Amino acid sequence: MSSQSIDYQQYSRRPSRRLTHIPGDSGLPVFGQTFSFLRNYKALTERRYRRYGQISRGNTLFQHSLTLLGPEANEIVLKNSEGQFSSMLAWNPLLDRLFPNGLMLKDAEAHRYDRKILQGAFKKAAIEGYLDSMNPHTERGLENWPVGEEFPFQHAVKQLLLEVAAEVFLGVEMGEEASGVNNAFVDTMLASMAVVKLPIPGTLWQRGLAGRKHLEDFVMTHIAAKRREQGQDIFSQICHATDEDGNYFSDEAVRDHIIFLLFAAHDTTTSTLCSIVYALAKNPEWQQKLRDEYQALGKDKLDYDDLGQLENSKLVFKEALRMYPPVPAIPRRTLKDMELFGYHIPKNTAVAISPLFTHYMEEYWSEPTRFDPARFSKERAEDKKHFFQWVPFGGGAHKCLGLNFAEIQTKLFLFHLLRRYDIKVKDGYEMPRSWVPLIFPADGLPVRFEAI
Ligand code: HEM
Repeated sequence: MSSQSIDYQQYSRRPSRRLTHIPGDSGLPVFGQTFSFLRNYKALTERRYRRYGQISRGNTLFQHSLTLLGPEANEIVLKNSEGQFSSMLAWNPLLDRLFPNGLMLKDAEAHRYDRKILQGAFKKAAIEGYLDSMNPHTERGLENWPVGEEFPFQHAVKQLLLEVAAEVFLGVEMGEEASGVNNAFVDTMLASMAVVKLPIPGTLWQRGLAGRKHLEDFVMTHIAAKRREQGQDIFSQICHATDEDGNYFSDEAVRDHIIFLLFAAHDTTTSTLCSIVYALAKNPEWQQKLRDEYQALGKDKLDYDDLGQLENSKLVFKEALRMYPPVPAIPRRTLKDMELFGYHIPKNTAVAISPLFTHYMEEYWSEPTRFDPARFSKERAEDKKHFFQWVPFGGGAHKCLGLNFAEIQTKLFLFHLLRRYDIKVKDGYEMPRSWVPLIFPADGLPVRFEAI
């Protein structure tokens, strides 16, 4: 089904409620399972699996939907081999006012076309350029962090990533302009979580719309200069990227893609670094393994060719993403009637798969609640039983475009951090989590760094 042939009009009604022939329940009147979903999404999916199996109906956030659990479900939905699932219809209601026309909000041919062009910004040569500015920025950023006293890691790392992003994504030098852009971006991100979406002055939503406008103005003001001169930032790469016939993105498309990329990268990487720092604080032997790995390189900055050698860092990255996948659920809407696990699913049904649930299935993972990075080693290869059992980056046509970038940024951060500091948390500390919409520490993750 090509995007030209998708007539989105016919899906403008709310998703189908004709699901009562499928096992499941509607929960509380009006609210359904919304409270359980918000309180502990992980426990909710586990309960559903025990009670109903890999397919069940429910009602969360005022929408009737199907939860599809396990690697087989992930494969069917993410591969989307018959074009029967729409990403646009699922994400648009959540994101279209703040992040319109982003890659995840496109389907079929329109998606394929834009994705192919954008991929240029994530090739080796481009990433080498990003590393040049990420190295000094990450190192300098860490210099200002408190040592020997407890501080909320989540806030500090978010700020650091914002500063690096201003340079790497947008090519803005630190200073007044960068802080204006950063504030606008933070407001836009916060608004994406807003419950009330009315443009009332002073509300999250209204500040988000103003933030979006600021970002748009920033991009449009700089676009001509970016097109004239090829810089090393992602914004510049997108301005110069072309399709096979040499056509460039329009100014508006560049604007929407770069703003969406900022959004897709920021909280996901913040979440990942929080999970890793927490896991390393609780497992000091892995801290030491990583430190040894960095010291073995015998250098003060990471070059592109060093990255592949950081085997233990990769294991830790994978394990943290298994235990705490930043995007715990991935939604879609069906574009046609279909059969799934023996049930008829009407078209225009909201469905969601769950990387988080899959990552704890005992059928696939030994002691899934234990932090055990070596499960991903070549010798143990626990992740190789099913191609869709480890899916923190999704899969298929919409698989995360920034997955290598995220891994590199993580390695770079850990390289600069662990060569200087020991990471500690209070004895007996267990990090509380909020699970949706993204996995985050519920307490900001209080940590202490000790100079080595
Ligand atoms: C560890 C960090 C990250 C995680 C866990 C993550 C996760 C994901 C997931 C699960 C999807 C698929 C969503 C779906 O199928 O509906 C996705 C898509 C995407 N991600 Fe990431 N992401 C991360 C970092 C990044 C970074 C750093 C960038 C950009 C530099 C990025 C850019 C994108 C884009 C553009 C898409 C849409 C791809 C498409 O629709 O074709 N992500 N990400």
